[in-house]
Amino acid sequence: MSVAAKGVSGAGFDVERVRADFPILQQKVHGKPLVYLDNAATSQKPRAVIEAISRYYEGTNSNVHRGVHYLSELATAEYESVRETARSFLNAADHKEIIFVRGTTEAINLVAQSYGRAHVGSGDEILITEMEHHSNIVPWQILCKERGAMLRVAPISDAGELDLDSFSKLLGPKTKLVSVTHVSNALGTINPIRRIVDMAHSVGAPVLVDGAQAVPHLKVDVQALGCDFYAFSGHKVYGPTGIGILYGKTALLEKMPPYQGGGDMIMSVTFEKTVYNRLPYKFEAGTPDIAGVIGLGAALNYVSRLGIERIGAQENEVVRYATDAVSTIPGVRVIGTAKEKAGVLSFTLGEVHPHDIGTILDREGVAIRTGHHCSQPVMQHFGIEATARASFALYNTKEEADALVRAIEKVREVFA
Ligand SMILES: Cc1ncc(COP(=O)(O)O)c(C=O)c1O
Repeated sequence: MSVAAKGVSGAGFDVERVRADFPILQQKVHGKPLVYLDNAATSQKPRAVIEAISRYYEGTNSNVHRGVHYLSELATAEYESVRETARSFLNAADHKEIIFVRGTTEAINLVAQSYGRAHVGSGDEILITEMEHHSNIVPWQILCKERGAMLRVAPISDAGELDLDSFSKLLGPKTKLVSVTHVSNALGTINPIRRIVDMAHSVGAPVLVDGAQAVPHLKVDVQALGCDFYAFSGHKVYGPTGIGILYGKTALLEKMPPYQGGGDMIMSVTFEKTVYNRLPYKFEAGTPDIAGVIGLGAALNYVSRLGIERIGAQENEVVRYATDAVSTIPGVRVIGTAKEKAGVLSFTLGEVHPHDIGTILDREGVAIRTGHHCSQPVMQHFGIEATARASFALYNTKEEADALVRAIEKVREVFA
């Protein structure tokens, strides 16, 4: 196996310098340098994020929106400035279209429970795809069961690409919402969101995009995509856990009822009548994760400083290199061979159980994920229970891809 050149990649990206920003990457695991390839589950955090959170707790901690005192005003200003950071990151038209939530899962549940309950009735349909994460399946099943609606599922090909012909045939006057992933967490497939949005809008159906696996790798411009809702989690894009964003078009959000009731989401309360707050606060009940929001802001700024296009180019180079190398190992079957992919290399190795692959790789310092990746329907499509998934981030190198290959060779020796 070739040994890759260290340092600056063909994408003009200084990976070694970037790696120095991530304290956790400097450690050894089982006596070997940590090779962290579980980024689709959660990414590591740069010092800028860790320090922003510490700074907040050490110097600014206070509740937001309610205080007239100095710290509360500081905390509120910092918290609200992240809304603008996120607006600009997604190119949303207005900061009030940015709602802070716990993550992608909560964002999808919010739309299902608020938009869905208000607009989906008996006999209506929600259209998703076969490659969705459980977070983009179960909230719709709950809604459909409650409303007497039908969940329709557009199939994927054996390469793991969405079958657009079938998708368009499943769209119709009964379709009340389309919810589709931008990038598949199990396969790495990038979906053609603009085309999907145009198709869905032609039958009047709004589109929610699950961007959990897209935001770390691709430039996302919600206005260019034309989508109605876009959801992502902070922790997959170098930010903290427990915080994420739901983008929604103003016209839709204005008409939606609140998702949760409580403090901050109201203008006034009497026992007779409660007047809800204006956007985006109508959807942010209770004390929010202020430190999480501030950490997320630092993460988005970090990504913007490096440049998402350069990040994507660097990652693509490493993922392609890793995929080529892993594919040549006897017994390897790559699951997910779409033309357009980002971040993910899923595979099986002969009859070896993916959990055994993961355990042996761990002893070599290589952290990957094994299992169904919360995408059991994808596993069913490929007739398997699980895969081993290496998922890449901006700090991964070709040397680490080489380490992955050497570790898989160890698995083969053990099971020879
Ligand atoms: C495509 C996709 N959607 C949704 C989620 C759920 O994200 P979270 O658990 O951060 O809410 C994930 C997490 O792995 C994901 O990969």
